[in-house]
Amino acid sequence: MNVAAHALQRARDALTDLRPQPDDIAADVIAGLSRSPRTLPSKYFYDAQGSHLFEEITQQPEYYLTGTELALLEARLPSIAQAIGPGAHVVEYGSGSGRKTELLLEHLREPVAYTPVEISRTAVLEATARLSQQFPQIQMLPVCADFTKPLELPTSTVPAQRTVMFFPGSTLGNFTDEDAVRLLDAMRQTMGAHGCALIGIDLDKDPALIEAAYNDAAGVTAEFTLNLLARLNREIGSDFDLDGFRHRALYARQRGRIETFLVSQRAQSVHVAGRTFAFEAGESIQVEYSYKYTDAGFAALVARAGLKVTHGWNDARDWFGLRLLQPA
Ligand code: AVJ
Repeated sequence: MNVAAHALQRARDALTDLRPQPDDIAADVIAGLSRSPRTLPSKYFYDAQGSHLFEEITQQPEYYLTGTELALLEARLPSIAQAIGPGAHVVEYGSGSGRKTELLLEHLREPVAYTPVEISRTAVLEATARLSQQFPQIQMLPVCADFTKPLELPTSTVPAQRTVMFFPGSTLGNFTDEDAVRLLDAMRQTMGAHGCALIGIDLDKDPALIEAAYNDAAGVTAEFTLNLLARLNREIGSDFDLDGFRHRALYARQRGRIETFLVSQRAQSVHVAGRTFAFEAGESIQVEYSYKYTDAGFAALVARAGLKVTHGWNDARDWFGLRLLQPA
């Protein structure tokens, strides 16, 4: 066995598999298309092709989020690490965000363990194997689970002084306020009384800048949105015509969120698992929200989950923020 295969085997041995209920994509799609207005869950964007397209989005000049957050982490990690303190058990929701996770683990003082939590077993194992080679002194304790629910963390061999939940990328912004509160509440239960959470949030700003980020000139975001339909066609045998729908993203400032739709370009019918859905010309399917927060709005949101903001770091233009939360 080569080094990578050994690392993967070690990750498998360390895995806590909480056997999350597998997604029922067809049922979710039928439920969403039966609603008025119609919706599709944004979590289904991220098949292999969707994840690849998202990576490409992060390289587009208009999509400021990723670059701004990375630069912010690079600049402020000494102060962030100070606020978190030594001996942390780092828990990340999602299978690891590559460079951001590396930066955090590099700057923390003697972190004892790292736990990626992810519904995909292969994704969580691969992320663990990769990081274990880079950080041999940090115990890797991957968990396969649905991170929207509270979970019991595996305990590290060296006792942790603090659990820190890492949730960068403004992924929280894909959740409606109600779902975000539920997720933050689950996080609070998982982190424990002395725990904390480091959360990346995109901030409210000039709507033109925000809208441009979700309507890049190269059309990568449009391709990303349409890939949702391509994925459904591949995986549940639906027959969405990819030329029959168009990407549309608008910033609804009163609601503080980008609202992304797929708009039917003509009257048409789509078949999904034995059902037929008729679309009128111009009818839209709501497929994603990306919330942009104000300080007051974010503080009120986390308060509903029994948390408070103890520290905050923004980039120089106040475009993107990192917030450290702890139980209120
Ligand atoms: C990965 C959820 C942060 O909402 O900005 C990018 C996903 N969608 N362009 C975001 C996304 C369209 C992205 N997040």
